[in-house]
Amino acid sequence: MIMQSYNFFMPTKVIHGEKVLVTQAEQLAQYGKKCLLVTGKNSARLSGALDDATKALKSQDIDYEHFDGVENNPSLENVALGGDMARRYKPDFILAIGGGSPLDAAKAVATLATNPIAPKELYSGKFAEKPLPIAAIPTTAGTGSEVTPYSILTVASAETKRSFSAPELFPKIAFLDWRYTDKLPIHITRDTGVDALSHLVEGYLSRRATGTSDMFAERGIRLWAKCIPGLKKGELEPEKRDHLLVASNLGGITISHTGTTLVHALGYSLTYYHDIPHGRANGVLLGEYLRFTANHAKERVDNVLTWLGLTDIQEFSDLINHLFGSVVALDEKQIKAYAAKAMGTSNVGFSQGDVTEKVLNEILTKSLT
Ligand SMILES: [Fe+2]
Repeated sequence: MIMQSYNFFMPTKVIHGEKVLVTQAEQLAQYGKKCLLVTGKNSARLSGALDDATKALKSQDIDYEHFDGVENNPSLENVALGGDMARRYKPDFILAIGGGSPLDAAKAVATLATNPIAPKELYSGKFAEKPLPIAAIPTTAGTGSEVTPYSILTVASAETKRSFSAPELFPKIAFLDWRYTDKLPIHITRDTGVDALSHLVEGYLSRRATGTSDMFAERGIRLWAKCIPGLKKGELEPEKRDHLLVASNLGGITISHTGTTLVHALGYSLTYYHDIPHGRANGVLLGEYLRFTANHAKERVDNVLTWLGLTDIQEFSDLINHLFGSVVALDEKQIKAYAAKAMGTSNVGFSQGDVTEKVLNEILTKSLT
């Protein structure tokens, strides 16, 4: 038997608990005396994280400026503005607060801060200068971007989202505090929460899964399962908010090693062309993905269902349907185009089974017509 070889690399220091940003503010001092805050317009403020972050920076005598212009699903043009500001201000590090959009944008800004390149050159993955260190504070429980080396941006010229990555883009430190997710409306909690589930499930079912990544995926799926009643009802008590945030974090650690699969590859078109939130776009494809994958890795699919406390794939599909209802109906032409687009991505190759364009067509057709 040939043993599978793998590397495990997770260099982010994760600090978890209530108020840790304020009580452990000294953790930030090691990254320097000048900080660029990177956020969207509202969520960092509304979550209470921005207030805690500025308190923490002031307590350590760290000067800061604030780039609060990150858009939803940030584009190359959008991160270029943050890069310009960073090159002008010359911070020692970046403090990113938000959901996936600000955290991913911050990785691009950290890179553009030290490398005066056109944003499309981020996709070369090779940079003359190291990106600035990043501290990350998630305000949604979904992306796991606080512990990944990935930055996913919208590339208008390619009409899709594309990720770039580099080992230096793992944030140096992440502060996990469920309180910042407490004011999220239920539709965002569900959208982002299902993104976390998607990372955990795709990671566990990936061809690149290892014994180590499985450990994180299993724990994350089991924690996520405890949140199902709250997600269905539309109310999550603090303990469940915390479970969901930790599950999201474990999902990030998982996909840092496995990548995502055909689900994310197809989901990007649903977001780009139909404005369907990222997690929801993945979620509506997961049931058919499980059915397809069960033909190749039945035991693994059964494990996912067991950890979720579900008896079969239909029950899984019913759960997603309960959370999102009907999302979009695609026509044949759209399905053909999105399947062809996904075939060009590396994520598809990480899926189990022989994934052809026909398979992707079928998954889209069964999920969304
Ligand atoms: Fe995702």
